Amino acid sequence: MRPDGVVVDAPALDQDDRFLQRVEDLPVEQLVPQLAVEALIVAVLPWRARLDVEGLHTDPTEPVADIGCGTGASTLLLAGRLDAHITAIDFLSEFLDILTEKANEAGLAQQIETLVASMENLPFADATLDAIWAEGAIYNVGFVRGINDWKRFLKPRGLLAVSELTWLTNDRPDELQQHWENEYPEVANASTKMGQLEEAGYKMLGYFRLPQECWLDNYYRPMQNRFAAFLELYSNSHEAQEIVRAEQAEIDLYQRYWDHVSCGFYIAERLP
Ligand SMILES: C[S@@+](CC[C@H](N)C(=O)[O-])C[C@H]1O[C@@H](n2cnc3c(N)ncnc32)[C@H](O)[C@@H]1O
Repeated sequence: MRPDGVVVDAPALDQDDRFLQRVEDLPVEQLVPQLAVEALIVAVLPWRARLDVEGLHTDPTEPVADIGCGTGASTLLLAGRLDAHITAIDFLSEFLDILTEKANEAGLAQQIETLVASMENLPFADATLDAIWAEGAIYNVGFVRGINDWKRFLKPRGLLAVSELTWLTNDRPDELQQHWENEYPEVANASTKMGQLEEAGYKMLGYFRLPQECWLDNYYRPMQNRFAAFLELYSNSHEAQEIVRAEQAEIDLYQRYWDHVSCGFYIAERLP
């Protein structure tokens, strides 16, 4: 349900989509919630002060959208740290149910609305959001498309905080390059991503890369710990084994070449 009470149809997912989403996303906690949220706060605070000074903004509740929120690791942190009203969007209602439970437990339910919707077809009106947060999610629609399509929802000078797979070096081992270009053809250096943001009408405010331990301790290790349960859940089927094999191959690749690739976190402001 949208914040204004309108019920939006969830996009249809076939069985395969759901199967794949479960494997890839259910185990995903968040790569580095605290660091990323702190970065947004560093960007948001001067921005809010500026708006107050200019008398442009008097409403203390800042509408923020967390797009592709999953089970809400970022949503909860954002709600806890910002004086914000957060619309948490995902196309899997199961994830949003978990988020709602967690929000209730944390006493943050008042600040959070959940919305089952596709990030390809968001129901916001133009220039209504103070900030868009999308962590580990924009790749589903593609970086260039996402930053361009979502810009119109932001108020002038509204903030975009988005993480994206990013090359850290110019020269990369072939097998790493091939793997990620195959998985995600938009993978590029941070300078390219920043250029795309500028081209789309944003001003860059900040960038950092997620450090190695975020991938290993917060993402790959917990995922590995769930391989056995996942295989059991799907009766050790061939497809399930293939998925586990592919994930393990990616982990091995990351351990060999972590210096060359990570998620970049980009914080940008919509130009007026
Ligand atoms: C890797 S998870 C990231 C979750 C969360 N942002 C985090 O950092 O913990 C990606 C999320 O995007 C959601 N997603 C994928 N495609 C989507 C789409 N087209 N519309 C809405 N959500 C989508 C998935 O269901 C999943 O919860």
